[in-house]
Amino acid sequence: MNLIALSGSLRRESFNTRLTRALAARAAGDVTIDCAVLHGIPLYDGDLEAEQGIPGAVEALRSRIQAADALILSTPEYNGGMPGVFKNALDWLTRPPETMSATFAGKPTALCGATPGGLGTTLAQAGSLVTLRQLKVDLFPGHLRVSRAGDALGESGPDEETARQIDRWLAEFVEFIGRR
Ligand code: FNR
Repeated sequence: MNLIALSGSLRRESFNTRLTRALAARAAGDVTIDCAVLHGIPLYDGDLEAEQGIPGAVEALRSRIQAADALILSTPEYNGGMPGVFKNALDWLTRPPETMSATFAGKPTALCGATPGGLGTTLAQAGSLVTLRQLKVDLFPGHLRVSRAGDALGESGPDEETARQIDRWLAEFVEFIGRR
């Protein structure tokens, strides 16, 4: 089973990118996780789309998502919501509209997130639900919320409690995918 985990942060030392890497490192059995980032995706501009078509970085990411059995979105929280760069990438991935279904409709999808704060990106994850419903993904109801990420997700990997949290959540998501 091949999953893709997309980090919604461009930051080099991003906790959310670390979280996708921790997921990939801890995937067990026949599960593999392709870690993806958003670099190279321009701001959505209808004129750019009309004049130059879909950017290569968007097409490349679209192909990786379509090739995966399931999707994980690791979102930072900015002012209680998903960062603009993440929403921007999702918007590009729905262009042109006739491609949207092949990328997202019915795709088993899980939300997770990491923050140095105490609420584990709860608000950003909740706010993303409106967009995910629009994309018609098959949403996994389990939550992976990593708080105090400076301690929980160190450079050398997650601490013990976070590793346990990751393992439990990933196993439940894999079981969810298997039931589809
Ligand atoms: C933040 N941060 C933040 N954290 C949080 O838990 N709730 C929030 O509402 C916000 N708001 C917010 C707004 C803006 C503009 C920035 C730049 C940051 C802090 C944020 O969680 C922190 O910068 C993380 O490190 C971002 O995720 P990455 O880049 O580490 O993946």
